Amino acid sequence: MGIFHLSTGRDGRVRSAVPVTLRPAQPHDLDAIARIQGRSSWNPAEYLNFDCRVAEEFGAVVAFLASRETAPGEREILFIAVDPAERRRGIAKRLLQHELRRAPGEWFLEVRESNLAAIRLYESTGFRAIGRRENYYSEPCESAIVMRFFS
Ligand SMILES: CC(C)(COP(=O)(O)OP(=O)(O)OC[C@H]1O[C@@H](n2cnc3c(N)ncnc32)[C@H](O)[C@@H]1OP(=O)(O)O)[C@@H](O)C(=O)NCCC(=O)NCCS
Repeated sequence: MGIFHLSTGRDGRVRSAVPVTLRPAQPHDLDAIARIQGRSSWNPAEYLNFDCRVAEEFGAVVAFLASRETAPGEREILFIAVDPAERRRGIAKRLLQHELRRAPGEWFLEVRESNLAAIRLYESTGFRAIGRRENYYSEPCESAIVMRFFS
């Protein structure tokens, strides 16, 4: 799927316009995914066991999103990450909105409570906090915010 990305930030400035292609991840994307995921504890190859999509720009993978079905009509966002050099250009929001549209229904996710960038991203696509899991994460120990979206 090719999309022409053009967004206006809260400051009213128009962000760069770039053609971003969204497509299913392939084994040859794993090096880029490993680089983009940073310090996540996931083994990148595991993402291919789920629904994993990448955003590609000028032939380079700049972001990815992994999700899975947890029950009929119910899905979960497992992970989303954007190349640090390409953040705040609306790429994660496009990827997330595309994923939510692909499978209407109920969506859940967990996010570290200190990860305000991700929480704001999820809120911007309609997710709302529905709970908190105390000390859910390790290294470092931190609570999770549970968020839900219904379309
Ligand atoms: C969270 C992450 C995926 C956002 O990617 P991104 O492409 O920069 O996000 P977008 O440009 O699509 O931002 C969409 C909205 O999210 C919010 N947002 C994104 N980054 C933000 C930040 N650093 N601070 C505050 N709000 C932020 C804003 O509301 C933004 O809209 P705006 O730019 O018009 O204000 C990215 O920061 C990332 O890869 N982080 C590391 C991995 C991670 O933490 N993943 C989540 C795991 S649960």
